[in-house]
Parts: sequence; structure tokens; C-alpha cells
Amino acid sequence: MDRRVKDSTAADVALEHVEDGFVLGLGTGRAASAFVRALGERVADGLRVRGVPTSQATAELAGECGIPLLELAEVERLDLTVDGADEVDPHLDLIKGYGAALVREKIVASASNRLIILVGPEKLVDTLGQRGRLPVEVVPFAAAVCQRRFAEMGIPAVVRDEGGSPVLTDNGNFVLDCQVHAIDDPAALDRELCCTPGVLGTGIFAHMADAVIVEDRHGVRVMQRVSPSS
Ligand code: A5P
Repeated sequence: MDRRVKDSTAADVALEHVEDGFVLGLGTGRAASAFVRALGERVADGLRVRGVPTSQATAELAGECGIPLLELAEVERLDLTVDGADEVDPHLDLIKGYGAALVREKIVASASNRLIILVGPEKLVDTLGQRGRLPVEVVPFAAAVCQRRFAEMGIPAVVRDEGGSPVLTDNGNFVLDCQVHAIDDPAALDRELCCTPGVLGTGIFAHMADAVIVEDRHGVRVMQRVSPSS
């Protein structure tokens, strides 16, 4: 059931789920950065947590905020990851990756016991794909092959660029921005795209988020995943 909290921020409500001693996955983007800053204030007040960043940008921010960091290899499981998203559907399935950190975000989220997502209401969609873009990280060597394969599947894709040069992820790869419409079965599309050699991961996060915290000017709404058995 949804919970509403007046006069609070999404980052503050996410912090209610953080316990002393936790190892936290730290997401990438504006919403995740707001959480990292709020977490840093708690760390300054004595909260003992350690973070695994999902990008170089987040590692730098967390360092500035005084949050001790760990390599993913040093951790068996993370207690909680807090991240943003680009689309959230009513089942709490997500599209991520507009910020190009999708593969590290997915790896860290999948190593976490819980995933909490922070968004504004503009990210809520009836069906994933509604904003028209699905990022997919690919090995540069395979980018053209992947584009041809996706085109055969009816999915045009362009290499994301900035100032005329391909954007490189923190893994040194390219991002293909796939032109999509409403995605009927996100998990199936994720599997299908990942079958193409050279694809490292898609921005579809199906069945991964446990809760989504939506912040607007009135406060926040917490949407909880309803498990299929309940
Ligand atoms: C990074 O690759 C993305 O998945 C971000 O988490 C997502 O784009 C949300 O970012 P904002 O909070 O900046 O909108």
C-alpha cells in the first residue's frame, strides 16, 4: 500500500531505511546525489555506514561527503542500494541509464538485499518505454553489429554522443540509445537484447526495485512492490 509523508524529501525518507553498520549501494544522478549528500550529513553525526558507488562521479561526491567507500569485490552482499530512475511503471519496473551508469547500477543493485528508487512524478509512466528511449551499454567493437541486430528487431539505435564524440561509460564502453515505444514485456525485451554478443546490459530493471519514493512539492509518496504471491 502507498504511504504518504508531508513536508519531507525523498532522500530523508530513504534514510529511514538505513541502519548503523549498513553497506550501501550509492546510485548515480541527481536524485541519488541528493541521497548521498543527506547520508553524508548523518555520517558526520556519527552514523557508521560504508558505500559502494555506481560511478566515478558518485565516488567523488561520496568522498567529498565523508562517506567511507568499498570496492564491490570487498563485499559479499549489500544491505541496500538507493538510486534514481528515468521511468517507473506501476509494477515498479524501471528504465535507467540516461546518465550512462546503467551497468554498474544493475550490478550493484543485484548484489543488494533491497533497492529503493527516488524519482519525481515526471518519471512515472503507465508503460515502460513511454519516454521513447532505452539505453543499452555495448562494447565499442560491437556497436555497429548491435545496431544492425537491433534494427532487424525493429529497434533503431544511435550511439550516444557529446560534442561529436561517443560518450564513454565508466567501463570504457558506448551507450546505444534505442528508440522504443510502449514495452509490453520488459523482462523479455531485456533478455532478447542481452542475447546479442557485445551487449553488456540494458537499462531495463525488471522485478528489482522494492520501493519507489516519489517526491513532489507537497511531500513524498512511497510505493512498495507487491510480490506476486501476495
Ligand atoms: C544513471 O545512469 C541513471 O540510471 C540515473 O539513475 C537516472 O538517469 C536518474 O537520474 P536523475 O536522478 O538525475 O534523473
